[in-house]
Amino acid sequence: MYGSGTLAASGKNTGFGSRMFVYEVVGLGQNGVTDQLNYPIRESGSFHITVPYERMNQEMRRITRLGGKIVSIKPLNADNANNSQEVKATSKTESQQTTENNKSKSMTEAKSKKGKKDVPVNTYKPKQPLIGRCIENEELVQEGGIGIVRHVNLDISDSDLRYLEGQSIGIIPPGEDENGKPHKLRLYSIASTRHGDKGDDNTVALCVRELVYQHPETGETVYGVCSSYLCHLEPGAEVQITGPVGKNMLLPDDPNATIIMMATGTGIAPYRAYLWRMFREQHEDYKFNGFAWLIFGVPKTPNILYKEDLEELQEKYPDNFRLTYALSREQKNAEGEKMYIQNRVAEHSGELWELMQKENTHTYICGLKGMEDGIDEVMAAEADKHGVDWSEFQRQMKKAKRWHVETY
Ligand SMILES: Cc1cc2nc3c(=O)[nH]c(=O)nc-3n(C[C@H](O)[C@H](O)[C@H](O)COP(=O)(O)OP(=O)(O)OC[C@H]3O[C@@H](n4cnc5c(N)ncnc54)[C@H](O)[C@@H]3O)c2cc1C
Ligand SMILES: NC(=O)c1ccc[n+]([C@@H]2O[C@H](COP(=O)([O-])OP(=O)(O)OC[C@H]3O[C@@H](n4cnc5c(N)ncnc54)[C@H](OP(=O)(O)O)[C@@H]3O)[C@@H](O)[C@H]2O)c1
Repeated sequence: MYGSGTLAASGKNTGFGSRMFVYEVVGLGQNGVTDQLNYPIRESGSFHITVPYERMNQEMRRITRLGGKIVSIKPLNADNANNSQEVKATSKTESQQTTENNKSKSMTEAKSKKGKKDVPVNTYKPKQPLIGRCIENEELVQEGGIGIVRHVNLDISDSDLRYLEGQSIGIIPPGEDENGKPHKLRLYSIASTRHGDKGDDNTVALCVRELVYQHPETGETVYGVCSSYLCHLEPGAEVQITGPVGKNMLLPDDPNATIIMMATGTGIAPYRAYLWRMFREQHEDYKFNGFAWLIFGVPKTPNILYKEDLEELQEKYPDNFRLTYALSREQKNAEGEKMYIQNRVAEHSGELWELMQKENTHTYICGLKGMEDGIDEVMAAEADKHGVDWSEFQRQMKKAKRWHVETY
């Protein structure tokens, strides 16, 4: 079911403000209470009611109070305007209903009136952050790996926070900085799909490395303020959340697209969201049948974040998902040096170049800033073989919104 807070009156932020939606409702019988409703009630099956955006939550609560269940929400448009009052028998299983709910929610969320993608941004600002709650905090680095990286899942139910795959959220750590001012927010890429890890639209997950370094002058061990806070957050603890932000790492709607993903370390976060949307969730309006290629650089095998899940996907979808690792401290490149992601890109530069020629190929780079130059260098050498100037080709891909970078 929908979380009651997921579609509240944030219409002004999202462009939904003046829109009408059609609820398909089951489980409401005729009785003294429902007699007072201003829409038709049937003894069985489902019926449709039209609700303006600003009354969506209120209406949801009312329907729930009366024992009804909303099985789908669709924007009122030419397709369903005519049948919005039609009665349709339903005998759906719970999981079918959940999938449909998710589908129709994503439809209502992802498209604006003109059919353009509606991207939610800054629903929660630093002055009035959302108070979420930690529900899971799991270690992702296996025994023998380097450092601490946690999968942190946050409850956002009863809130207006909606997000799309590829966006980030801000976290405001508690306490003050060295100037006695409240800590500023830090951004983290979202690692879950818009439906969250539980599929109920009520959570948002992050993949966070604890920043630890030696102070260059004192030699003292320094722990990053926000990353340490998140990595050690106890389930049940409250968290201040802002956002979502970011429009340049979104996944194209085209289910036949080629998606090239290059990541180092925690740069895997948005790709987890993409891959889960492509392969693990079921959607009516997005059935991925393109080609996804993840090139993933980490120091060693135990540092491969979400390893089991990624390898399971590769095994299950060998024609649609390819997985290539660069293990810098276990593998060597052709020069006998550390195997970095750009060395893997160099090994496959011919294939990557071919894929990039297709108009529906999108390339994503996420993680350490340091990898960008290396990737440019090897792709420039490949472009040169074809008599093409890489900078110009890359500029064209950026212009066509096919080249996406988020490095930190
Ligand atoms: C769009 C975006 C997405 C991001 N996504 C993720 C993500 O998915 N996962 C993730 O873990 N992080 C992510 N980050 C990074 C994250 O925002 C924080 O920067 C990171 O967690 C460190 O914050 P902190 O509060 O722990 O460190 P702080 O306490 O803020 O310390 C950071 C500061 O420490 C200093 N410092 C750091 N390393 C060294 C060093 N080796 N030597 C000397 N000084 C040093 C620098 O001055 C640096 O500014 C993302 C950043 C951006 C911009
Ligand atoms: N903005 C921030 O302040 C911030 C945020 C998150 C993480 N970090 C820091 O960034 C580092 C990475 O953390 P992570 O968990 O994301 O990743 P990680 O698991 O440490 O993996 C990063 C991988 O990228 C490799 N690498 C290093 N420099 C590279 C370069 N120039 N080009 C290509 N590959 C390169 C690393 O190799 P080698 O290590 O073997 O050289 C390693 O294999 C950590 O030291 C972490 O503390 C900083």
